[in-house]
Amino acid sequence: MSELTPQTDRAQWKSRFGFILAAAGSAVGLGNIWKFPYITGQNGGGLFVLIYLACIVLIGLPIMMAEIMIGRAGQRQPVGAFESIHGRKTAWSGIGWMGVVAGFIILSFYIVVAGWSMDYTLKSIVNFTKPIESKAATEAEVYIATTSISDMKLFLVNKETDRQLHPRKTLLESRLTKSQKENYERFRTAIEKAEDQDQARLRLLKDEELKSSVEAVEKVEQQVAKARLEIAGSVQTKINSLSATDLLAQVKLSKRRDLVFEKMTGTFVNLLTNGWHSLMWAALFMMVAIGVVAGGVAAGIERACRFLMPTLIALIGMMVLYGAFQPGFGAAVSFVFSPDPSRLKASGVLEALGHAFFTLSLGMGAMMTYGSYQSSKTGLLQESVMITLLDTAIALLACLMIFPITFSYGQEPTAGPGLVFMSMPLAFAEIGRTGMLLSMAFFGLLFFAALTSAISLLEVVASYLIDQKNWSRAKAAVTTGLLTLVVAVPTAFSSDSTSVLSNWEGDYGLNFFDTMDHLASNWMLPLGGLFIAIYAGWVMPRRLQEAEVEDMPAWIFQVWLVLVRVVAPALVIIVLMQKVGIFDIDEWL
Ligand code: PFF
Repeated sequence: MSELTPQTDRAQWKSRFGFILAAAGSAVGLGNIWKFPYITGQNGGGLFVLIYLACIVLIGLPIMMAEIMIGRAGQRQPVGAFESIHGRKTAWSGIGWMGVVAGFIILSFYIVVAGWSMDYTLKSIVNFTKPIESKAATEAEVYIATTSISDMKLFLVNKETDRQLHPRKTLLESRLTKSQKENYERFRTAIEKAEDQDQARLRLLKDEELKSSVEAVEKVEQQVAKARLEIAGSVQTKINSLSATDLLAQVKLSKRRDLVFEKMTGTFVNLLTNGWHSLMWAALFMMVAIGVVAGGVAAGIERACRFLMPTLIALIGMMVLYGAFQPGFGAAVSFVFSPDPSRLKASGVLEALGHAFFTLSLGMGAMMTYGSYQSSKTGLLQESVMITLLDTAIALLACLMIFPITFSYGQEPTAGPGLVFMSMPLAFAEIGRTGMLLSMAFFGLLFFAALTSAISLLEVVASYLIDQKNWSRAKAAVTTGLLTLVVAVPTAFSSDSTSVLSNWEGDYGLNFFDTMDHLASNWMLPLGGLFIAIYAGWVMPRRLQEAEVEDMPAWIFQVWLVLVRVVAPALVIIVLMQKVGIFDIDEWL
């Protein structure tokens, strides 16, 4: 295929707006609503968000422009786009190949989480929290009836002390490096096995490096213990001064919340550890995605996104509005927006950069594929800015939707991956009647967000068969979808102890699910992004490039060029070097 021969019968978006919605649909997904809030929570909020925004502008946006540019110029999906641009076979097509493989891998675990969102939507519709709540209320009353007042006081003191201690503890522990913690862990294991522990300690601490790690960790432990004592003192005074009625009310509330949380965790763990259940939902989700992709670019993907994206935005708007009237809203806003350097570690910066790729669907040719269905030569900058803005706005809104609710209902923002499936249902249960509606809206929007992203992942793989192998769209979508489902089997069973792969975690250190996520998100996307930036900055014929940016101010083109040529590759290489373990940035800074 010569570089200038257009393929006339190729599928096209109906309108620019449709393209923007579809591309934003790809970008806005589980990454925004499930992952971004919990990594923001784990990295201490404000400053992490600021750095994430910088990564989006300095790396995400330029690479997004590069991908759409290559797709538009090549008018092919990623494997074919580079050949089409150069008019011959080229090694750069390797980027496309890696994209197809990455798409396959990401989709295989993405549909499992997406399936959970369907499961929880159904659970919300049947009001699953109600029996959990009433059981917990009964058990809380039994506790009050059968426990002595002094034990109840002790329970409250411990609970409140832990809650207040948590931020200080996290802060103190964040001063320790990863290797100090690892050294200490080894030291503890060895000591615990020894018969004469004092002697074992003396022997082990002859090693200078180990000694300094142990001293550092023990110093922090002492500081934590001191802080705990201080807090416990004041908490105890407060609790002793409570009237009997208040004391019982507080114990009841606290106990009930504990029990609901325990049961909610149990519900999620049941799903997580039942491979067949997860697989059934993943298969159902896959069917929906196959249906959309088989429908075609304009009649399937564009039409679905035209309905799903506005609905998703309306649902998020509604949830944020609800959050705005909650007592925890102020705390949530200041958590997300006020930068506090003491809460962020250097490795958090790298996590922000890695997430920028995932959230914008970059590094594997999804944007390239979507761009290839556009023949327009104008508006590259405006389109990329719109997609990026939508994605970023929704990630921030997701935080403003989740944190006010978790803060108001006694949950920590640092809950991790379970934030969405355990802490949120707990909050919904506490809210009562409206909780059920909110829960339906929340999991429904999670499902919509996942669907618009999954179809773009499926499209990358299916379009290879359509463009390069001349398969019909329906056959390509069904085959790719079913194949992905096969790869999803070990993922769905990754936490199921009956699985054939139950030894996986012991051998790899990560379960199958996390291994796939790690491989694709931490390696393939940044590597793909690196090569795409290098290609767009240094290799792509200038003539074709200029044809795509005719309506762009020259200075913006120059800035873009510097970003894709130097800034983005340099930053990605630093991230990859850290991942290989060439250096540990936390120990450097
Ligand atoms: N951007 C999606 C999200 O944030 O959930 C994930 C994703 C979709 C990554 C499509 C890559 C991709 F090609």
